[in-house]
Amino acid sequence: MIIHNLHAEKILDSRGNWTVRAYINGVSGTAPSGASTGTYEAKVMPADKAVNMINTKLQRLVGENINQIDADILIETLDGTDNFDKIGGNTAIAVSFAVFNAIHNSKKITKEIFPYPLGNVFGGGAHGGSTTFQEFLALPTKAKSIYEALDTNVQLHKRLRETLNKKAKTVGINDEGALTADIDDFKALDIITDLAEDIGCRIGLDVAASEFFNKEKYTYRSLKKTLTPADQLDFLTETARKYKLIYLEDPFEENDFENTQKLTKKIGNKCLVCGDDLFVTDEKRLQKGITLGAANSLIIKPNQAGTISLAQDTITLAKKHDITPIVSHRSGETEDSTISRLALFWSAPIIKAGVIDMRISKLNELIHLWNMAETPSMTKLKLK
Ligand code: PGA
Ligand code: ZN
Repeated sequence: MIIHNLHAEKILDSRGNWTVRAYINGVSGTAPSGASTGTYEAKVMPADKAVNMINTKLQRLVGENINQIDADILIETLDGTDNFDKIGGNTAIAVSFAVFNAIHNSKKITKEIFPYPLGNVFGGGAHGGSTTFQEFLALPTKAKSIYEALDTNVQLHKRLRETLNKKAKTVGINDEGALTADIDDFKALDIITDLAEDIGCRIGLDVAASEFFNKEKYTYRSLKKTLTPADQLDFLTETARKYKLIYLEDPFEENDFENTQKLTKKIGNKCLVCGDDLFVTDEKRLQKGITLGAANSLIIKPNQAGTISLAQDTITLAKKHDITPIVSHRSGETEDSTISRLALFWSAPIIKAGVIDMRISKLNELIHLWNMAETPSMTKLKLK
């Protein structure tokens, strides 16, 4: 593809913060943003600076006849640091997404195996809400189509809202469109587990443990308890067993490969123990996890890496070692639906992209791709 023109604009995201959108040959890509960001993620530039960077330094891409990998290498070279310190990972991913979308604009994505949507139905932590666990997630493992899968998650969200309206005093919606209420983590798990059993889906948690780790301890303000890492291991093992969790993300703070390994050994045959802040979509950190046996799943957030190609290297390594990759949105999002096309393109078995609000742009893109496919089917999950 020849890059005829590249320009950027500053736009709003779902939290009302400014972000950057890049256009290549009239086709766009937009950077999302996190609230519970990992320390080792690509650096984020203020939106004004990111726009300026694209409209000046990154103009070097204009005139190139280029594929995704070469475009991404050129973006990485123009930055020249390890973690996009100079141009910003948000700047890089907006352009990298725009390259992908411009290349695939007129080409059909020919993959026909669809990922299961992992949907955040209830939450707390850094996204807003009373619980310490950040996300309570639904995985519709029995669904036979993308329609059925998305409908299952939506039903759980709706039924949960009805139940909370009866059982809690204050019910709200947080940054990711997940419900919030003045109930603690166990009450939430009790209610959601019952509904999920009735609806026929599995549930999981994003613990996002770095957010409440301080001075060697995990402080669950909602449960009025403070746990050492060893206590946290026992506590989460028991919680995963009691609630038959199929998914547990970031169970320990972002540097604790050792306890993540211990937990994976204990529950990994029944549960996806997933690294988000632990791996930050980084090939080297994932390699460390593989060597140590820490986690059997990882979150792929392209903006943590900075370019699509860097994220792709990480997903390739994951697949080689039987680590389940989950392509994911961020809590700060826009109508950009690139991750839905990427999840299909990469044959990822699971996509984490919310349930309602503006996240439906990603879910509706999955529906569109399903309708465009000749013989679409859902992927085969290792755990059901
Ligand atoms: P973030 O969180 O996008 O706010 O960092 C989402 C997650 O932790 O999965
Ligand atoms: Zn997470």
